[in-house]
Amino acid sequence: MKAAGWLLPALALAGCGSGPDAGATDQIARGKRVFSRCTACHTIGQYAGDTDGPNLYGVMGGPIGERRPRFSYTAGLKALGGNWDAKRMDRWLANPRRMVPGTTMAFAGVPDPKDRADVIAYLSTRGP
Ligand code: HEC
Repeated sequence: MKAAGWLLPALALAGCGSGPDAGATDQIARGKRVFSRCTACHTIGQYAGDTDGPNLYGVMGGPIGERRPRFSYTAGLKALGGNWDAKRMDRWLANPRRMVPGTTMAFAGVPDPKDRADVIAYLSTRGP
């Protein structure tokens, strides 16, 4: 019965929530839980400071490796250029060291693509 594993969560998703935004709200709540893997090194409050890693308020859509002027980003991260969009954030979070070999983000990555999508949805809500 291979199908059951897929079918049950799908049914649960279809059956939960009342408004059209319920799915998105659930995803953000899940993403917030995934973000607990990041809080050892990152704050995300609007006025919170940098810790081991840069504060992540407004990171989605922001320039890569330059939002936080006092944080010492690696040359490798800065060299990526451009802005954080969902696709690049997904690649980064899957395996930071594969995307930027010299990065100081000592984090193995978030292996589950769904967890990554959830945490990216959460990050998107934390910004101006
Ligand atoms: C062990 C500490 C640590 C953990 C855990 C960690 N990070 Fe980081 N993160 C860093 C450091 C250090 C950098 C700076 C990397 C560089 O300059 O190469 C960074 C950079 C980033 C950046 C780039 C920010 C910018 O301004 O361009 C993002 C986005 C990010 N981390 C997201 C996350 C998320 C999301 C998680 C959790 C899933 C996470 N990090 C977990 C330490 C960490």
